Amino acid sequence: EPEPARPEVDLAFDGDVAIVTIDRPKALNALSSSVLEALDDAFARIADAAASVRGVLVVGAGGRAFVAGADIAGMAGATPEEGRRSAELGHRVAARIEACDAPVIACVDGFALGGGLELALACDFIYATDASSFGQPEVRLGLIPGFGGTVRLPRVVGPARAKELIYSGRRIGIDEAVEAGLVVRRFADREALLAGARETVAQIAQNSPVAVANAKRVLVGAAGRSTDEAVAIEVGGFAEAFGTDDMREGVAAFLEKRSPGFSS
Ligand code: HXC
Repeated sequence: EPEPARPEVDLAFDGDVAIVTIDRPKALNALSSSVLEALDDAFARIADAAASVRGVLVVGAGGRAFVAGADIAGMAGATPEEGRRSAELGHRVAARIEACDAPVIACVDGFALGGGLELALACDFIYATDASSFGQPEVRLGLIPGFGGTVRLPRVVGPARAKELIYSGRRIGIDEAVEAGLVVRRFADREALLAGARETVAQIAQNSPVAVANAKRVLVGAAGRSTDEAVAIEVGGFAEAFGTDDMREGVAAFLEKRSPGFSS
């Protein structure tokens, strides 16, 4: 009897942490359309469990790569229409990640290239090990970034550095990635990386879940907008906070010099 196929994306819940593992190590976790569909599905399931999830970790299996890009084999012979559909599928996953109430941490240990870096950039922030490398090598293949690299990379590292990375296609290591602000915390190895990410989720979990989700909605909603529009979105979120039980509790707890008991 043939063994049942191992799922290419695993979703596990550990207390209030959801862990999404891209598990296609033979292709360095490359994003085929079936992997992207499975990621879309995993984030839909996380949305269903939203009330009990305080943080999501996205990791790559196998020890060599986070994700080495979109699946190059699957792109051979594809038409512009198929290219469009594949980009749209990637953007759907990015939209799911951005719509997730809880912060999503990309935990990079190894290669984060092309669509892999773009997936990491769709997360709220990137933690990575010393063994990681990053790049947008698409132009080497006659392609360009298609899962948001031209949009989110310049926001994170600035437009000039994004252009330099995208035009050259070069890979950068952890030192340069940290210096560029692409990686917000570095760790010696995978174990330390996952422990550090869980520690951050534990810190987040002490705060109001309603306020964290509100902050994320404002940050995501304001990205790339004009100052006036972004300010209006922030004012809207700030005003909304005043209508929440968590705001009343948080402020009362401070004034009464006690710990807050937020909604869960
Ligand atoms: C499919 C991939 C892959 C990918 C690696 N593999 N990356 N398969 N798609 N993106 C496969 C290899 O073919 C190989 O399979 C196995 O994984 C191990 O990779 P090797 O190349 O043998 O390993 P190594 O020599 O250590 O080199 C690692 C590497 C290299 C530097 C990461 O694999 C590489 O350059 N990969 C491609 C990176 C890339 O160009 N990414 C951008 C893709 S375009 P076999 O069967 O031979 O063992 C993109 C577009 C996004 O992402 C937007 C889309 C809309």
